[in-house]
Amino acid sequence: MSRLIVVSNRVAVPQANGKVSAGGLAVAVNAALKERSGIWFGWSGKITEQPSERPAISSRNGVKYAVVDLKEDDYQEYYNGFANRVLWPILHYRVDLAEFHRSDLSGYIRVNRNFAEHVSKIIEDDDILWVHDYHMMPLARYLRERGHKNRIGFFLHIPMPPPELIQTLPRHGEIIGSLAHYDLLGFQTENDKENFGRYLESRGGQATADRKAYDIGGRRVRVGAFPVAIETESFARRARHAMRTNFMKDFKASLGDKKMVLGVDRLDYSKGIPNRLEAFETLLRTTPEWHQKVTFVQITPKSRTEVPEYAEMDRYVSTKAGQINGDYGHVSWTPLRYVNRTYSRSALAGLYRAADVAMVTPLRDGMNLVAKEFVAAQDPENPGVLLLSQFAGAAAEMGGGALMVNPHETEGVAAALRRALEMPLAERRERHARMMAVLTDHDIDHWAQSFLDALTEPGRPELDSLLARGAPLRAHSSARITDRQGLQRPLEM
Ligand code: G6P
Repeated sequence: MSRLIVVSNRVAVPQANGKVSAGGLAVAVNAALKERSGIWFGWSGKITEQPSERPAISSRNGVKYAVVDLKEDDYQEYYNGFANRVLWPILHYRVDLAEFHRSDLSGYIRVNRNFAEHVSKIIEDDDILWVHDYHMMPLARYLRERGHKNRIGFFLHIPMPPPELIQTLPRHGEIIGSLAHYDLLGFQTENDKENFGRYLESRGGQATADRKAYDIGGRRVRVGAFPVAIETESFARRARHAMRTNFMKDFKASLGDKKMVLGVDRLDYSKGIPNRLEAFETLLRTTPEWHQKVTFVQITPKSRTEVPEYAEMDRYVSTKAGQINGDYGHVSWTPLRYVNRTYSRSALAGLYRAADVAMVTPLRDGMNLVAKEFVAAQDPENPGVLLLSQFAGAAAEMGGGALMVNPHETEGVAAALRRALEMPLAERRERHARMMAVLTDHDIDHWAQSFLDALTEPGRPELDSLLARGAPLRAHSSARITDRQGLQRPLEM
């Protein structure tokens, strides 16, 4: 079986005891890697002045991890700059927040080229590559330039906006257009996939009749929606066990007989935290009967703190939280507990299970796994209610059981929150069962497997016949030049 090479900005290297501390996604990617004796390549998370020429390699449970450090300039321009101040806002429909600088774009291209150089040295001709997220969009193009003809898939974890928004990105063809160098592009929802298809068409791409592939620049790129999922069964188990921990016993004692509303998000403007706090404030202002009877726990680890928009948001949210408690609190009741801490997955699972309502109300989100984990963590006999933004990718699958809201309409969200708090048991059960059925059918292993099945599916005649003959796939130099000229021109701006 061919090896699997995963490339992403962050790499979830397991701890010394073999445990993976990160979420279900890392567990699933690790499982896929283990099955195919794979390698996970990416950033070490460290910044050094003189990064080593070679990646640092470690092995655990049959998987190799190859990580490189970034230089300060690279970190500022590639990560803080282009990835997080340009691509992140534009792909989350916030073109107003994008801060484009040519130096950041150069840094992004430099790091991607550098990653391609490292990956190029690691891969063998029949390896399969799976690249993740917006940090690494042009990677396949740089690998193709080096003559690699491997199957390369890309999964975008965040939204893909309509072409009109993509086109606000200077030199978008070079970055977003370069996605056409992959063999398979995975998106979270049909909507994201269609948006990208329309973008390719705006650049002369021709859709096949079923719109599952596009011909552009002499290549065919396949597209599909692969909604990312969770490890449903084990997360439900984790939540059940968590209720017996001292952490949860202490928490429940501190809550008393009050109902609990929960929000869990990185501190990010896409998550709609200010809108959510305003909706809670509206509930308190308009519904005095809920005073002293409900506690809102908002868990918000700080994130990307060097990016100015995040620092500004931090100030706004903590001021707003203080103001709500000042206006409505009593000596014996803090309406809102706003916490900038990171909790373990077990602690979160327990908190989800203890919550009566989860507010997952992003202004825009690729998927939002908090929504899915909250559902999986519930006691089916007495489940909590999911209040979900229509702009989360999860809405496509959870819409049948969640209370759907438009996070821009504060009064509407406040009314939905009240309805959630007062929802009869029978309706809660029925809604929960509908969502749980989806999560049971489509868990994280199903997600990874269906993407990899699609990526390795026969159908690229040139590659398939070479594989069948056992021929080496790396092109020799003259072919490389032809490829380079043929591939690059039509895709660049
Ligand atoms: C989102 C992105 C991930 C990213 C994560 C945390 O979920 O899709 O690629 O790793 O946010 O952000 P950070 O900048 O800390 O990696």
